[in-house]
Amino acid sequence: MPGIIIIDYGSQYNQLIARRVREHNVYSRIVPPTVSYEDVLAMKPDGVILSGGPSSVYRARYPTCDRRILEGAFPVLGICYGMQLITKLYGGTVKKTARREYGRSKLVIDDRARLFEGIPGRIISWMSHGDYVFKMPPGFKALAHTDNTAFAAIRDTAGRIFGVQFHPEVAHTEYGSRIIANFLFAVCRARKTWTMKNFIREEIARIRRRIGDDRVVLGLSGGVDSSVVAALINKAVGKNLHCIFVDNGVMRKNEGSRVKELFERNLHMNLISVDASRQFLRALDGVTDPEKKRKIIGRIFVRVFEKEARRIGGVKFLGQGTLYPDVIESMSAFGGPTAVIKSHHNVGGLPKKMGLTLIEPLRELFKDEVRLLGKELRLPKEILWRQPFPGPGLAIRVIGAVNKERLDILREADSILVEEMKKADLYYTIWQAFPVLLPIKSVGVMGDERTYEHVMAIRAVTSVDGMTADWAKLPYELLEKISSRIISEVRGINRVVFDISSKPPSTIEWE
Ligand code: XMP
Repeated sequence: MPGIIIIDYGSQYNQLIARRVREHNVYSRIVPPTVSYEDVLAMKPDGVILSGGPSSVYRARYPTCDRRILEGAFPVLGICYGMQLITKLYGGTVKKTARREYGRSKLVIDDRARLFEGIPGRIISWMSHGDYVFKMPPGFKALAHTDNTAFAAIRDTAGRIFGVQFHPEVAHTEYGSRIIANFLFAVCRARKTWTMKNFIREEIARIRRRIGDDRVVLGLSGGVDSSVVAALINKAVGKNLHCIFVDNGVMRKNEGSRVKELFERNLHMNLISVDASRQFLRALDGVTDPEKKRKIIGRIFVRVFEKEARRIGGVKFLGQGTLYPDVIESMSAFGGPTAVIKSHHNVGGLPKKMGLTLIEPLRELFKDEVRLLGKELRLPKEILWRQPFPGPGLAIRVIGAVNKERLDILREADSILVEEMKKADLYYTIWQAFPVLLPIKSVGVMGDERTYEHVMAIRAVTSVDGMTADWAKLPYELLEKISSRIISEVRGINRVVFDISSKPPSTIEWE
């Protein structure tokens, strides 16, 4: 598919570059620096972007690229390290800056043709670099400067190779999106073919070709990814898709009936609901260690799922909601910044021994695109914009030992919290809000009676990606409402506290 190839030199902003390109309806794909010219050519790109990254081109070893890519027929844009690499490869000089430049910087544009078309002469740009272009390669021309560097943007004589020291993909760069659009349309002459309508059409054809008349199973949790992938595969192969919903006993109130209502009753899909809550709770009995809870839940899920899949019979494929960021991370030469933290979040994948072929139709998509796709497939907002919910569910929100009684207390409180957040119009604007049941009791008074009951904590955070988070400054009136409703409506709770810690150092979940 035509589009933009992004060579990944390890910048934390790489996925942002890919998303910015796609926001202009041009396909983009991230590849490692080891990609060959032949591979790039086979992708028929409209242009290539060399990303930023932590390396320095004046060191003995630094990541580079197949030189023929730069000499190919397509335009090239180097961002930050990418521009320094172009400089090095074409005979210019890159040096270390006296002081690392980080943050907003005034950019003066000296040549407003093509890359800077329609952009004011002075804008704020976002810088993050420790090296700079000291001498441009022969034949190159400077297009912009800042107080710190005479070469904040450059191009070659032919106007095919461009470089920018700043980061147009970061929202702090004014007109950043326009600069990217200029590269796409004024320089690369790309066409706007990347739309979810096109994606659905092509993907359905591809799924049909692969699955034919065979059967595919899919674990449906009711979360965004599994719901969208189910709706898409259903559109392609209808009744040959068998969705399995496993009630693990640690889900929220009415989760199972909601999934049934939507997928079975409204969308008329094959849905097998298995109530395995007893099996899960038995295995969790007395377990207090968070990692053990995660492992147990993962292991039993696989067991239950396998059994149901075998019962269906004749299944050859397994549908999964893998997204592009996971694919990038697993193939990245540098490992994404999120690589380490995420590993413990994956609740034991389905084992290879099931011998099923994977169908992962979302593996090219970012989360925001999955939501667009879901909208196109007419899934409701409640599914597409629901807050993230961890695989191990409420088991990691009941601190300490988990049992049905404590889970029921948490479920009631959770449903009150969600209801109040929605009423206050805050549910969809904050990242996550949930109660946590603490393993301590405190003294209270109700009427004339002394009480001695559980304490509930409320965790509410704002975040962009879950990697860092701030505690949400919820209005006092809302907190008051939540607290008084939980204390009066949920038996066993006589005190509610609010968690005011940010991540890092505190994680979002308590366990
Ligand atoms: P933490 O607690 O690490 O959470 O700050 C970051 C995000 O990941 C979710 N989370 C999980 N998701 N399995 C999951 O699928 C897990 O074991 C898990 N632990 C945390 C958490 O809800 C937050 O959105």
